[in-house]
Amino acid sequence: MIEPSKKLQELPPYFLSKINLLKLEAYKKKLDVIDLGMGNPDIPTPPHIVERLCETIKDHPRTHRYPQAKGMPKFRASIAEWFEKRFHVSLNPEKEILSLIGSKEGIAHLCMAYLNPDDLALVGNPGYPVHFNGVYLTGGKVHFVPLKKDKNYLPDLEEIPEKIAKKAKILFLNYPNNPTTATVDNLEFFERVVHFAKKYEILVAHDNAYSEITFDGYEAPSFLQVPGAKDVGIEFFSFSKTYNMAGWRVGFAVGGEKWIAPFEKLKSFLDYGVPTFIQLAASWALKSSQECVQQTVLKYQKRRDFMVQGLAKLGWDVPTPKATMYLWAELPEAFKTEGSLSFSERLIKETGVAVSPGVGFGPYGEGFIRMALVTHDKRFHDALLRIKNFLKIAPPKKGG
Ligand SMILES: Cc1ncc(COP(=O)(O)O)c(C=O)c1O
Repeated sequence: MIEPSKKLQELPPYFLSKINLLKLEAYKKKLDVIDLGMGNPDIPTPPHIVERLCETIKDHPRTHRYPQAKGMPKFRASIAEWFEKRFHVSLNPEKEILSLIGSKEGIAHLCMAYLNPDDLALVGNPGYPVHFNGVYLTGGKVHFVPLKKDKNYLPDLEEIPEKIAKKAKILFLNYPNNPTTATVDNLEFFERVVHFAKKYEILVAHDNAYSEITFDGYEAPSFLQVPGAKDVGIEFFSFSKTYNMAGWRVGFAVGGEKWIAPFEKLKSFLDYGVPTFIQLAASWALKSSQECVQQTVLKYQKRRDFMVQGLAKLGWDVPTPKATMYLWAELPEAFKTEGSLSFSERLIKETGVAVSPGVGFGPYGEGFIRMALVTHDKRFHDALLRIKNFLKIAPPKKGG
């Protein structure tokens, strides 16, 4: 019998699979599901971007041909322009920018471009699963760097054993962070990261997928704002959250030429890049008014406030995030021994509210659940009522 590769077999099932199955079961039973599980924006792509796509695909049949895999010059130029305006960092569009079929694709392929079997990657944990699964898929090894509440979910670089740091090839970081919602206040942390990376010769891969989903006046920095960052790193951006274009599959990587060139080389063997009409629409998204981004942010901010205040009234204190579209909630005291997976499974089975168990983001996510604020505004009130009943009447399972 032909078996899938060992590497594939050794990967755990994707962390949301179990919750997704329960969600499907609930739909089948015609249960009314409120889906706060996956970080899949419910807000539609802004109309001016959709219109640009429709016009282009209708009126310009040349865009139906194979695209330029690394990104067409127009797309890369608009990324450089946006980056300069947003972060005051100049990028060479020819050599320091690579278009991606979403940042998830890019992160997995960066691992393939740089890791040999048994090579070691440092990965902040809890974390977005492709940061570690991308490493496993290359046969590489992962050293989880714990992101702890008492350290504001920033890794303690000093605590990484010297032997491990010397062996490591890549360090994955992500601020604003999924799932913990942690942010960095200024460039101080990134400066320490650059110093660490230079000392141990490590490639830093900073995932900035939530750079624009920030609240209360907070502005997320770019890793590349630190002098010398291009020498040690690469940064990932996504259109999925900023412009609600998750289904369009488009993102980009920026960083030093020496990192981008091998990455581009690897991808040239694998894919033809982002369809031209999508590159043009994404380019328009960056060039046109950013008012739509502000509207998205305000919507999430309102949902955030409603849920944080509502949960507090139930006696469940959840921090108010400065960024991302998530809440990272420590399990209430009475449910702590039950564990996040069992809690999430029972919550969807008994109430139809789907959330993500913290343990799905890796071992250091245990004891937490993540709620994605991605359902209709009117549904949050109902979600709170259901959670209220669950906390009141659903006795926690012991050590479940
Ligand atoms: C931290 C992080 N990085 C990357 C992604 C994937 O983004 P994209 O849609 O660009 O592949 C996500 C999606 O949720 C994410 O949370």
